[in-house]
Amino acid sequence: MQDSYCLETADLCYRYSNSDVVLKGINLQVPQGSIYGFLGPNGAGKTTTLRLILGLLKRQHGIIAIFGKRFDTNRIEILRNVGSLIESPSLYNHLTASENLSVWLKVHQCPKGRIAEVLYLSA
Ligand SMILES: Nc1ncnc2c1ncn2[C@@H]1O[C@H](COP(=O)(O)OP(=O)(O)O)[C@@H](O)[C@H]1O
Ligand SMILES: [Mg+2]
Repeated sequence: MQDSYCLETADLCYRYSNSDVVLKGINLQVPQGSIYGFLGPNGAGKTTTLRLILGLLKRQHGIIAIFGKRFDTNRIEILRNVGSLIESPSLYNHLTASENLSVWLKVHQCPKGRIAEVLYLSA
């Protein structure tokens, strides 16, 4: 696992409990500072791969490293520095935009002023 890659997987494999093998030996090497297109037909396993990388699915086989560190043993530290959005944003529909942001403000321990800054950026 190299520091020059912000994300690396080696021989990542996965099967859902009631299905055939979905991922067979996925080797990703994403260089630091790059914009990476992860393409494939419907059902190829892109979402499954991303869920594994973020720990939303339990790794069954292979290695995942982010920022040069093994995900298994550095999960919290890694996730503190990762932003993710898989397929649809996770928002509380009964809260306003500002209230939703205040949830993330607490999680990431950001200063209060960030809410106005971020709302201004998306206006
Ligand atoms: N929760 C699940 N249970 C069983 N099979 C699933 C589940 N989610 C996805 N799959 C199957 O895994 C394969 C890969 O799906 P997915 O990772 O969503 O592909 P992609 O994002 O590339 O379209 C597909 O065959 C899909 O039907
Ligand atoms: Mg998908």
